[in-house]
Amino acid sequence: MNHKANKEQEVDVFYDSISKSYTEAIRRCVPEYEEMLKSLFIYLKPDFLPKKILELGCGTGNLTQLVHLKFPNAAITAVDISTECINECKSRISSSNIEYVKSDFKEIHFPDNGFDLVLSSISIHHIKDADKEILFQKLHKYQSANGVLSFCDQFRGESDFIYQKHIERWKEFAIKQGASTDEWEMWMKHQKDHDYHSTLANHFHWIKSAGYKLVDCTKRHLLWTTLYAEK
Ligand SMILES: C[S@@+](CC[C@H](N)C(=O)[O-])C[C@H]1O[C@@H](n2cnc3c(N)ncnc32)[C@H](O)[C@@H]1O
Repeated sequence: MNHKANKEQEVDVFYDSISKSYTEAIRRCVPEYEEMLKSLFIYLKPDFLPKKILELGCGTGNLTQLVHLKFPNAAITAVDISTECINECKSRISSSNIEYVKSDFKEIHFPDNGFDLVLSSISIHHIKDADKEILFQKLHKYQSANGVLSFCDQFRGESDFIYQKHIERWKEFAIKQGASTDEWEMWMKHQKDHDYHSTLANHFHWIKSAGYKLVDCTKRHLLWTTLYAEK
């Protein structure tokens, strides 16, 4: 097994180990975190009432909680690779409408045309670009006619200069918000080991190629980008 494959397997171990402190840490370290989560709902049409929702990378449930509040009668399938994050999520949100699935995004299998809405927050960047491309193709198949994909994630800038500038400004923000230097270093190590940031242009290409009829960027701040797509 090569070194990189080994690191990839550890993403669950990393999130297991920080599951108790994650909810507070992410609010401190991600600029405009709450606004970003809310941005996933802003462009949903007023008459769009999803019955079945898929959330990729529920983590400790920050988005799961919001989507369950917004669509209390919808059946939510929440996927994550970390058992401890799923346990934390379950302890915060208990509802018979939420089914938790422990799985790697690369291994998900769901029936075709099932989900009216697919949501995700800062999770898909943990898989490599070739796997992202396959994931968007699968999601398109799993979505019902006119289904919506709404997700936010960390994207690379279109040039190294822009990308590095984003990271510099992110560090200034995190330190100002109370992140310690150790915490910042911890995220940077995590980024090196487990993150595969890609550009907005690549995401548009993959999503359109998967068959979505439209895709638009509805919010962007530094790395954090919200996309809205319709099947
Ligand atoms: C940064 S957290 C985001 C959690 C939550 N969505 C939020 O906005 O706070 C990323 C989540 O993705 C999960 N994850 C990372 N790689 C994954 C993979 N390959 N398959 C499934 N889940 C994965 C992690 O376990 C973690 O809970």
